[in-house]
Amino acid sequence: MSTITIDEVAPPNAADSQWAVETHGLTKRFKDNVAVDGVELLVPRGCAFGYLGPNGAGKTTLIRVLLGLTHADAGSMSLLGYPVPHHRDQALARIGAIVDEPRFHGHLTGRQNLHILAAAREPAARGRIDASLERVGMIQRADDKVSKYSMGMRQRLGVAACLLGDPQLLILDEPMNGLDPGGMLEMREMITSLVAEGRTVVLSSHLLDEVERTCDAVAIVDRGKVIRQGPIAGLLADSAFDLQIDCSTPDRAGTLLAGTQWGTGVEVGPDGLRVSLAPGTERAVVAEMNRLLVEGGVSVYRLQEVHASLESWFLEVTTRLGAGQ
Ligand SMILES: Nc1ncnc2c1ncn2[C@@H]1O[C@H](COP(=O)(O)OP(=O)(O)OP(=O)(O)O)[C@@H](O)[C@H]1O
Ligand SMILES: [Mg+2]
Repeated sequence: MSTITIDEVAPPNAADSQWAVETHGLTKRFKDNVAVDGVELLVPRGCAFGYLGPNGAGKTTLIRVLLGLTHADAGSMSLLGYPVPHHRDQALARIGAIVDEPRFHGHLTGRQNLHILAAAREPAARGRIDASLERVGMIQRADDKVSKYSMGMRQRLGVAACLLGDPQLLILDEPMNGLDPGGMLEMREMITSLVAEGRTVVLSSHLLDEVERTCDAVAIVDRGKVIRQGPIAGLLADSAFDLQIDCSTPDRAGTLLAGTQWGTGVEVGPDGLRVSLAPGTERAVVAEMNRLLVEGGVSVYRLQEVHASLESWFLEVTTRLGAGQ
């Protein structure tokens, strides 16, 4: 006799969940190697979210665990508000994913490949083939054999395959891998437009620069552990920044500022004057510096805050962690 639990009959009101992905203490070990280590992840709906980390950090393993391609050793997770593995079928019906490189039959055309994939989905999927091909800019090449496609075209076909299910959430493992700068730009624009349609895109990447350009929010993962996460703008606001000062006499300006509390961070270079400021420095400080320079006889043409790129911030964070602080 088979038994049905209450929550199989009545799944939670998943649509109310504000998180596209939610994990708590998620852990996956390969013998002594903890590839995913107590990961607490909160991915808001309707954004592009980067899971960013160096090679071997555990990005693919996390995605495989989320999709049920391998089991977790500990922790809990929900996708689009559906607890998994319990409600995995309901969750996966609303998710499109590419893990590693998308695999297709090379001797068949792009369209034929999508027909095969659509046959394994709900009946409506077949009716979305043309729109999906159109959507990723592949309609003109849809009847060529996949073996003749470039890497960028395969990646786009992979996204078209994801769109067959009209997913609310796309999970893309290293979507920029193997793409040239033009291909990366196309992929970035495609991700942005998918988000503009109200979908959530989670992508993994070791390319800091790409994540910074493509994503609204990020989790930085190092050796299986998420070390920081949140909106990129918010994370950068918490970091140190430089003030670039364009003025008539940088040397005199440098001397004037050297005697102040900001003096240790002053550097005179070919582009003028740069002053390093601590995280959270108030705007009033900038006005005060300006006044000091003007009163000291320096003409100030421009004051510009230069925030660290995500890359330098990432290095800053990992170095700090490496130093045990
Ligand atoms: N099937 C497996 N068996 C044993 N160890 C594995 C397996 N898959 C991954 N690992 C190990 O888990 C760790 C994380 O690997 P994973 O592939 O998730 O990293 P990644 O962040 O995706 O790296 P990359 O940027 O190179 O794709 C690595 O130490 C890897 O060797
Ligand atoms: Mg990987």
